[in-house]
Amino acid sequence: MADKNKVAEQYYAPPPDLGKWESFRTFLWNGETGQFMGRTGSSWAKILLFYVIFYAVLCGFFAAMLAVFYQTLDSKVPKWQLDASIIGNNPGLGFRPMPDMDNNVESTLIYYRANDKGSVLRWSGVIDQFLEQYRKKGSGSGEQTGAENRVPCSPTSYQLGEKQVCDVPVDEFHPCTSANQYNYEEGGPCVILKLNKIFNWRPEPFNNTEDLPTNMPEDLKQHIKMVSGKPEANTVWVSCEGENPADVENIGPVQYIPRRGFPSYYYPFTNKEGYLSPLVAVLFEKPRTGVLINIECKAWAKNIHYDRYERRGNVHFELMVDRA
Ligand SMILES: *[C@@H]1O[C@H](CO)[C@@H](O)[C@H](O)[C@H]1NC(C)=O
Repeated sequence: MADKNKVAEQYYAPPPDLGKWESFRTFLWNGETGQFMGRTGSSWAKILLFYVIFYAVLCGFFAAMLAVFYQTLDSKVPKWQLDASIIGNNPGLGFRPMPDMDNNVESTLIYYRANDKGSVLRWSGVIDQFLEQYRKKGSGSGEQTGAENRVPCSPTSYQLGEKQVCDVPVDEFHPCTSANQYNYEEGGPCVILKLNKIFNWRPEPFNNTEDLPTNMPEDLKQHIKMVSGKPEANTVWVSCEGENPADVENIGPVQYIPRRGFPSYYYPFTNKEGYLSPLVAVLFEKPRTGVLINIECKAWAKNIHYDRYERRGNVHFELMVDRA
């Protein structure tokens, strides 16, 4: 009897007819063959070992590639600079306050009502927000790191230490100050201009009256004549004008605060901690109210090429001040 059974075991035997639950339990743990979920312990160990090695090699390969890649980079210094970079070596101009981007990305219109507190506060709030980084001092909690590196500079004293950068004292731009709501209430708003940062870019300023461009505004030429040869002539000059004859008539007197451009001592930008881009506050003293005025501001240096259509070296915006 026992012999007969043994022989029969070597041949195919139909699987015992088990219920669903039973067969599932057998799948989980088959006591006869010692299989757990279809594999024996050693089979599981082998497959686990295979995947451990497989992924370890994959991670190692990835890490090696990343390490090689990072060898070629510096977190502080861009690899491609000036001419070699995509942004190039021709800085653009930007202005603040930018109109609300949520409503219309294309809009460059600064429109407000001088007698409406809410309208004034809305625009001065946008400038406040932009200037916040300029006001942060020291490196305490909530302050910007590197702010303690900022030192006052002037055209005749700008010897900086290795870590030092020139400060931009935005609270001294009277009347374009936060306390004065950037003069919006007076109906003579301030617009702040900023030259875009380009790593290692140095301006070649028009610092004397030789070869000034023919299209340079006359009043700027006069200004350069006055400071020609002096240290403060080393400046990227700025001019703002009405675009069309009607705009020229409506724009009224324009003041540049604290000076008529971006002093050379703020350059080059080399990503030092706490660096601030210099600013020029343009005060439109008495623009005609109730009309839209097209304004174009330009930055002037020998190595800033002006291109109206590519918006290089210039910026365009519209201003409209209402009284009622
Ligand atoms: C004028 O600018 C040039 C650079 O474009 C500079 O080499 C020169 O020293 C400057 N002149 C003065 C008087 O600062």
